[in-house]
Amino acid sequence: MTTTELDHRFLWHPFTQMREWLASEPLSIVSGEGNWLVDEQGRRYLDGVSSLWCNVHGHRHPALDAAVAAQLGRIAHTTMLGLTHPGAAELAERLVGLVPEGLSRVFYSDAGATAVEIALKMAFQYWRLRGRPERVRIASLADAYHGDTIGAVSIGYSELFHRHHDDLLYRQVVRMVPPHVFRWRDRMDEAAAVEAALADARRAIGAHGPELAAIFVEPLVQGAAGMWMHPPAYLRGLERLARECGALLVCDEVATGFGRTGEMFACGLAGVRPDLMCVGKGITGGYLPLAATFATEEIFSAFLGRYEDFVTFFHGHTYTGNPLACAAALASLDVFEREDVLARSRRTADRIGELLAREVEPLPHVAEVRRRGLMVGIELVADRATRAPYEPALRVGHRVCEDVRRHGVVLRPLGNVIVLMPPLSLTLDEAELLVDATARSIREVTGA
Ligand SMILES: Cc1ncc(COP(=O)(O)O)c(C=O)c1O
Repeated sequence: MTTTELDHRFLWHPFTQMREWLASEPLSIVSGEGNWLVDEQGRRYLDGVSSLWCNVHGHRHPALDAAVAAQLGRIAHTTMLGLTHPGAAELAERLVGLVPEGLSRVFYSDAGATAVEIALKMAFQYWRLRGRPERVRIASLADAYHGDTIGAVSIGYSELFHRHHDDLLYRQVVRMVPPHVFRWRDRMDEAAAVEAALADARRAIGAHGPELAAIFVEPLVQGAAGMWMHPPAYLRGLERLARECGALLVCDEVATGFGRTGEMFACGLAGVRPDLMCVGKGITGGYLPLAATFATEEIFSAFLGRYEDFVTFFHGHTYTGNPLACAAALASLDVFEREDVLARSRRTADRIGELLAREVEPLPHVAEVRRRGLMVGIELVADRATRAPYEPALRVGHRVCEDVRRHGVVLRPLGNVIVLMPPLSLTLDEAELLVDATARSIREVTGA
């Protein structure tokens, strides 16, 4: 049987309407090289979304390949429950040197959602252990996305994605309206939108302050909601609010971490110091599943006690801190240093900004181009003046991303937002191809 036949017979794909999938010919990727993917027929595609926002230095990077191969020569997997290994320990030290000051402990897991789930459970248990069991509420942003496990869905609820699981969710969640809503819906300027959003956060938290366990936020970019951005001033405002009411600040850097915004971490860019921070995706350069939840020494120390006190953080996953993944992560950090990745990616991002302004922003069905570093969202609408959206049945975003494959680029949309999130290793020529192909497909599909 061919890959398509086997796939159609046996697989069920994530975030995919399988009726459509079964009626289509899937693109089957067999190899990669640099920023390119290669399919079964040998056709090459620029990886315009970093294999779902995780690839950092390109595919088959010699340093990462060698590090994983060398680790394979030692051991592929051993457990962190009751044992340790050099890769996990060294990586923890290196990461603590990079994350915002105050975060000093690393708890590994294997997906963004698990990193978030862990932060949530840590926050809850922390307050119990500190004798404040009434702190059980969570504040999060409207349209936040923190992953697909039940805790993560509870704080990052999306009507569209999660309404069928309503009854499974934790309900003591307070929603805050982020600045982009005031900017987009009410057409406020950025400063007014930040002020309105902070006033809303204050109001939403309101009387709940003493019951608040934590404020969760995707710092600077709400990725999955549609690449909606907020200015650093808003993040700093949320930090102040957390300090005022005594709640923990939790930053979910799963999407923004490891250079996507032009800085190693979005919190660093904003000068914000969270109490807990989650990373995943790019931590291994996009090679292998690994995630981490960082905690302050203050939080860590609350869990210290005698064995029989049972104040331990009883949480763990089988592949937590997997040695192959740690080896890839260490090699990735080396590449960041050796190849001056952040500085180079900022130049590429600037170039992408220029190209978008010239080729994409003027298109009649492009309502807005949003960008922070190498995270880009292109909002397509039926009518630019009224910002009336396209009918979902037209699947405009999906069709653009289908069409762009003809021009040798792989993209994946968020509804009618076209996402560009290339590896940080994208070259200037590739940036041109990426924007050019995207503009052509938008013109083609929107009839402009
Ligand atoms: C901000 C954020 N948090 C968490 C997640 C979930 O990560 P994972 O898919 O690795 O569980 C994502 C995934 O896109 C994300 O963007």
